[in-house]
Amino acid sequence: MIATNPPTPRIGFIGAGNLSTSLIGGLIQAGWAPDSLCAADPSEARRQLIADRFGLLVSPENADIVHQADVVVLAVKPQIMRAVATALSRALHPDQTVVSVAAGIRGDALGRWLSSSLGTPGIIRAMPNTPALLGVGATGLVATNAVSQTGRDTAESVFRAVGQVEWLDDEADLDAVIAVAGSAPAYFFAFIEALTRGGEALGLSGEVSQRLAIQTALGAARMASETDVPVATLRERVTSPGGTTAEALKALEAGDLDGLVRRAMDAAVARAQTMADEFGAVD
Ligand SMILES: NC(=O)c1ccc[n+]([C@@H]2O[C@H](COP(=O)([O-])OP(=O)(O)OC[C@H]3O[C@@H](n4cnc5c(N)ncnc54)[C@H](OP(=O)(O)O)[C@@H]3O)[C@@H](O)[C@H]2O)c1
Repeated sequence: MIATNPPTPRIGFIGAGNLSTSLIGGLIQAGWAPDSLCAADPSEARRQLIADRFGLLVSPENADIVHQADVVVLAVKPQIMRAVATALSRALHPDQTVVSVAAGIRGDALGRWLSSSLGTPGIIRAMPNTPALLGVGATGLVATNAVSQTGRDTAESVFRAVGQVEWLDDEADLDAVIAVAGSAPAYFFAFIEALTRGGEALGLSGEVSQRLAIQTALGAARMASETDVPVATLRERVTSPGGTTAEALKALEAGDLDGLVRRAMDAAVARAQTMADEFGAVD
């Protein structure tokens, strides 16, 4: 008897902007065939770019792409998600899985907008971040209603192609993922900028200071991710008693670094919740 592999599921992207382009690039690099991916976008220039760069089937019609796909990734801005999802409800089949990457759009709102007389597709919310562009993204996933195992596996493989994936049991935890990972590349960029300015104030040129700050951030992240040594131990190892690092860390503590980071994260969560209330309100 000849063994047959199950058919590769097809992924359809609704909105072919920055995030979709990163995901598509990651999937192609991970060996997905271009004909297992397709994308819709109203912009002719965007469609052309995706078709030329990756050889994908593209369409200006979202429903065309939904008809071609097993898993549909909704990658439009949160402000227009309601209009896009509602318009797609009649094109979707309950056997399909929909993955929304929009920050601050809750599963119950998506469920209302995507339901039709046929039923409701499986819905997964995903919160990726921009390092996905380089294949080192971090994504939180949560299934917000009954999603088939195939739908879960396919959604996971999309985001695993561009980095690390964490499944969550509780949708409320996705706001914490926004605070820890989705928004967090910007915190690290801000820290690099602050280090760079500090180096300049101490007499280095801006270029030298920035190169040193970036390389140090990269080195610290690689040490934290590529060894089993706890991060706290790595910190202690560069902190000789009475040395320069100990004095610098004392100043960070005196400035309440923990409290400051916590306030920034609470602000990100609060904004996600306000957006969810605003964009997902029941009429
Ligand atoms: N970028 C990130 O790091 C990141 C991280 C996590 C989550 N997200 C989420 O991902 C989503 C997309 O973000 P993005 O940065 O990729 O935004 P983006 O670059 O603006 O991409 C959105 C794309 O959707 C297109 N579009 C507009 N109206 C449409 C419609 N009716 N049907 C289909 N496509 C339509 C836009 O075309 P036009 O430009 O012509 O309007 C654009 O090409 C957002 O919900 C965001 O919250 C992004």
